[in-house]
Amino acid sequence: MGLSMATAEFWVERWERQQERYAIHREERFSVVADVVDHVTADRPAPLVVELGCGPGSLAARLARRVPRAEIVAVDRDPVLLELGRTHHADAARYVEAVLGDAGWAESLRLDRAPDAAVSSTALHCLPEAALSRTYREVAALLRPGGVLVNADHFTPDGAFCARVASDVGRRRLRTSPAEHGLDWDSWWAAAAQDPELAESFAERERRPPAEGGSDGVSLSRHVHLLTEAGFAHVCTVWQYGYSRVLVAAT
Ligand SMILES: C[S@@+](CC[C@H](N)C(=O)[O-])C[C@H]1O[C@@H](n2cnc3c(N)ncnc32)[C@H](O)[C@@H]1O
Repeated sequence: MGLSMATAEFWVERWERQQERYAIHREERFSVVADVVDHVTADRPAPLVVELGCGPGSLAARLARRVPRAEIVAVDRDPVLLELGRTHHADAARYVEAVLGDAGWAESLRLDRAPDAAVSSTALHCLPEAALSRTYREVAALLRPGGVLVNADHFTPDGAFCARVASDVGRRRLRTSPAEHGLDWDSWWAAAAQDPELAESFAERERRPPAEGGSDGVSLSRHVHLLTEAGFAHVCTVWQYGYSRVLVAAT
């Protein structure tokens, strides 16, 4: 049974509500990512943008609306989320299944030119530190000179005091009622797995090796260090709320 547009819309809509439980001011941070891409590609008629850990295409869809001249290649490891993106946000991006940090992921994108930007939203913290470090290096090597990585994610502030305050501020903002925000992560996956239209994608998902633990505890200064070592010359925060930031790294 194939995935219909209506079913894809149903699950992507619930994905959006679910993600809002974890990503503070999610819509605003998407806008900030688009602002940065628009700024750095202002003089380019057809900028190429790679999205890392795209899920069902939420950021790609916003970016395609905000910067319609951009060509977007969106990569993720999850066949269920990719299937939802390919169906619900089909025109936003070309979707590629690959595991960031694994050998050959960048080649599997089959890009015809160096990208102007790589973007990401609440995804790179899922990578263990070694894979994150490799990904930073590969992205720096992939980008055109002057290209940028724009990463909206949570970053643990340095030092116990700052980490505590930032975490508390973030948690207060995330204290949302289930009635308002629907399913959480586990219940979204459990409910989607029951949908017969997604059965094939879930069977694919089962065949994939499980993801290793992420790099949630990696401090902000460690990220900056890894980015600098990877070849990024400039790293700055352009938006912050608690421990959430949009971090921009330029080659
Ligand atoms: C919390 S979701 C966020 C998805 C999307 N960016 C959004 O904002 O809705 C994290 C995403 O990262 C993807 N991901 C995690 N580790 C990955 C890896 N090593 N390679 C590719 N994708 C990965 C997951 O499959 C998932 O789609």
